[in-house]
Amino acid sequence: MEMFRAPEAAADVNAAAHSRVATATSERGEVVLLRRGDDGALELRVNGVFVMDTVHTSSERLLATTALTASLAGRAPGAPVRVLIGGLGLGFTLQEVLADRRVTAAHVVEIEPAVVRWHQEGLVPDTAGAFGDKRVEVTVGDVREVLARLDPTSVDVLLLDVDNGPGFLVHDDNAGLYRREFLELCREKLVADGCLAIWSAGPSAELESMLGAVFADSQQVAIPVVFGERATTYHLYIARKHV
Ligand SMILES: C[S@@+](CC[C@H](N)C(=O)[O-])C[C@H]1O[C@@H](n2cnc3c(N)ncnc32)[C@H](O)[C@@H]1O
Repeated sequence: MEMFRAPEAAADVNAAAHSRVATATSERGEVVLLRRGDDGALELRVNGVFVMDTVHTSSERLLATTALTASLAGRAPGAPVRVLIGGLGLGFTLQEVLADRRVTAAHVVEIEPAVVRWHQEGLVPDTAGAFGDKRVEVTVGDVREVLARLDPTSVDVLLLDVDNGPGFLVHDDNAGLYRREFLELCREKLVADGCLAIWSAGPSAELESMLGAVFADSQQVAIPVVFGERATTYHLYIARKHV
């Protein structure tokens, strides 16, 4: 089972082919923004784990579009649409959310202060501009804690992309995000026709079954991804509160 995003790109962080754009240390470890020498792409690594680059972004974008499609199909035009995104990363999910003009508010929660700062400083040109959008609110914190503080039924679409999936966590503490208690919290915060979508590198029968137990409807969507001459499949888990 493939557990990394773009694993062939996850070379030694100190290799000559990489240059460090920015580095920060948090209580969770080192966060690094790298520029690859071969193709000029940016990479984000958290605590030694490759989490994202600026080349292979289709599945992070599909996280947004698939969930918005599942949730908003029956909505009246002009109705408010509030999206909460767990994990800013390099900003591609946020950028895709903002491209949907039906979205009236996008709240991004990112645990690493440095990641937010790097966007504000313009170090991620591929998704620059997202923070300037009037619909965006950014909170530095753990998505579990931020979500817990929100009012019930105050979120239309909830997007989670904080790990490489439940089988490959960036932080051990994130294990709780895939447990029943947190999934029930997500359900509580969603409006009646709201939708939760979770990104995962590998398939997870456990997550699929848990979502099936908590939500009225859930499905696993396989996303084929090609890295040069190699192909793999990533997964989205889409769960709706009511059918
Ligand atoms: C894979 S990246 C997100 C990629 C993003 N979808 C994109 O399009 O670029 C994961 C991000 O989630 C953040 N993160 C990890 N655990 C988190 C948590 N518990 N709460 C909020 N953010 C978290 C990481 O610091 C990292 O920036």
